[in-house]
Amino acid sequence: MSESKLKSTAKALVVLSKGILAADESLHTIKKRFRSANVDRTPETRRTYRELLLTTPGIEAYISGVILFDETIRQPTENGTPFPELLAHKGILPGIKVDKGTRNLAGFPGEKITEGLDGLRERLAEYRELGAQFSKWRAVIAIGSEIPTDTCIEANANALARFAALSQDQGLVPIVEPEVLMDGDHDIKQCEDVTTRTLSAVFAQLIGHRVILEGMLLKPNMVLPGNECLRQASVEEVAEATVRCLLRVVPAAVPGIVFLSGGQSPQQVTRHLNAINAKGKYPWELSFSFARALQGPALEAWAGQEANVSRAQKLFYHRVKCAAAAREGQYSSEMEAQSANEGREVK
Ligand code: 13P
Repeated sequence: MSESKLKSTAKALVVLSKGILAADESLHTIKKRFRSANVDRTPETRRTYRELLLTTPGIEAYISGVILFDETIRQPTENGTPFPELLAHKGILPGIKVDKGTRNLAGFPGEKITEGLDGLRERLAEYRELGAQFSKWRAVIAIGSEIPTDTCIEANANALARFAALSQDQGLVPIVEPEVLMDGDHDIKQCEDVTTRTLSAVFAQLIGHRVILEGMLLKPNMVLPGNECLRQASVEEVAEATVRCLLRVVPAAVPGIVFLSGGQSPQQVTRHLNAINAKGKYPWELSFSFARALQGPALEAWAGQEANVSRAQKLFYHRVKCAAAAREGQYSSEMEAQSANEGREVK
């Protein structure tokens, strides 16, 4: 992919009124999600579930791209169409998660490093052949006593930059995802400080590795108190802290920022995205790349039963529609209530 194609693909992913669906749960993660929804864990149930999501009528109005997992990009729908082809037909860009997950960072208790750089060039080339146009790599940074260390931040920032450079070299737009986790009792100020440190290190590495900033997207956490913090923040505080942090460290050359949901409830993260976008215009587009916040209600409603597919698709559609509205600052509690009612109407 030429530099101009990288730039136009990155822009297309953050086009107005649309966002990204992350449907790239690893085998380990989808196992956890299926267990809590009482769904059998087999390649076929995973295929059926992804087909339910991706064939939901009308999502192409709100979804610009879908991040797939290695297993899914190789699977066909029930009628034999490969998933990347199904998406391309709907005008949705297929993407792929390329990291191999997190492991303990040796010598640094409580901290993680993301693996998957070995052989990445060849895997990227193969994914490109399979139809992927963009790629994703997730690093996690935990907040706790004495952590994160600079070593952990630097090691992960370096891996993210090597991934991004290789990805562009192989013609795929990289989505760079440094996730500061919301687990813990830290306050919003600590999250802001750690997110600022992390993103500063990530951009220093991206620039050092000559990554074309105009041909990539950033996928960060929102700035929030930890889920065990006694003082939770208002929607306005989250929006303010998130925007302040991003304005300080994300170069204006980056075309878009697509938030992860990170364990926030669908309604909560949608309210936050809405408040962020309602605050004004920014140098970059501010959109979404949610997994749990788009899929949660649908997965629960489906519960592995064919009879529930239609209801699950309606719930999924409404989450997607609400997120797309929030991406424009147009989401409201009336819209949320309408969504919930529409979901309930379907038997
Ligand atoms: P969540 O929106 O569930 O945090 O997932 C986003 C993602 O892609 C994690 O890598």
